[in-house]
Amino acid sequence: MSSEIFPGEVFANATDFDQGIRQLLPYYDEMLDAITRCVPSTSSRILELGCGTGELSLKLLKRCPDAEIIALDYSPRMLKLARKKIKDAGYDDRWMGVEADFGEWANYPEKYGLRSDFNACVSSLAIHHLQDEMKAKLYQTVRSVLIEHGCFWNADPVLPESPQLEEVYKLAREEWTVRNNINLVDVRIKMGSSDTHGYSSQDQLATLEAQIQMLKTAGFNTVAIPWKYYNIAVFGGF
Ligand SMILES: C[S@@+](CC[C@H](N)C(=O)[O-])C[C@H]1O[C@@H](n2cnc3c(N)ncnc32)[C@H](O)[C@@H]1O
Repeated sequence: MSSEIFPGEVFANATDFDQGIRQLLPYYDEMLDAITRCVPSTSSRILELGCGTGELSLKLLKRCPDAEIIALDYSPRMLKLARKKIKDAGYDDRWMGVEADFGEWANYPEKYGLRSDFNACVSSLAIHHLQDEMKAKLYQTVRSVLIEHGCFWNADPVLPESPQLEEVYKLAREEWTVRNNINLVDVRIKMGSSDTHGYSSQDQLATLEAQIQMLKTAGFNTVAIPWKYYNIAVFGGF
């Protein structure tokens, strides 16, 4: 029987995440690189939501030499690994992990006392665990902590627009798995099972169009989709 984990942790042992996610998800590094490129290299303050084991944080710390990152995640297991990797890379003076639920933060930002002067907010593979109402609320709270012209970039799976496209996306992913000689049985055996924790549940996908609308309603301009691979998209705006 698989172990009970928080939504988004994916693997029963957090130590399996870095290798396992690269086998489950096509072009994981390219996706994180797309976010990283969209964040100005001159940024001094970056907020990350659902940092997991710190893979996106590491890329950003490298790209933005003056940036300090505040990284929220509700999983102590994922944060522990992130802390170690950031320390080993010599970035611990510019990175602070905070054990917190970003849904709770979206509803009650004043409880967390984060200054509203972030140049950028980023997230990958995490926000799709929130219900749509909370995604919209989160986008509004993100907007409220950014400086003028600050940006927000999110990478997430999105809801296929039709059953036909769902089939197209599924086949593309299967072909990628075969091309890369990945045995999904070996990967899936390491996965945990999760129900609900805090504000997150298993996949609560929304279409890209619906989320673009949420971003515009929250006050983002220049909304864009700089990267997309079938149903996985990097989207956001300034
Ligand atoms: C699939 S992992 C992605 C981690 C990392 N962003 C990456 O791309 O490698 C999703 C992460 O989001 C976190 N997460 C999910 N829902 C959350 C919530 N409501 N509040 C804080 N963290 C959350 C999980 O603990 C997990 O670390």
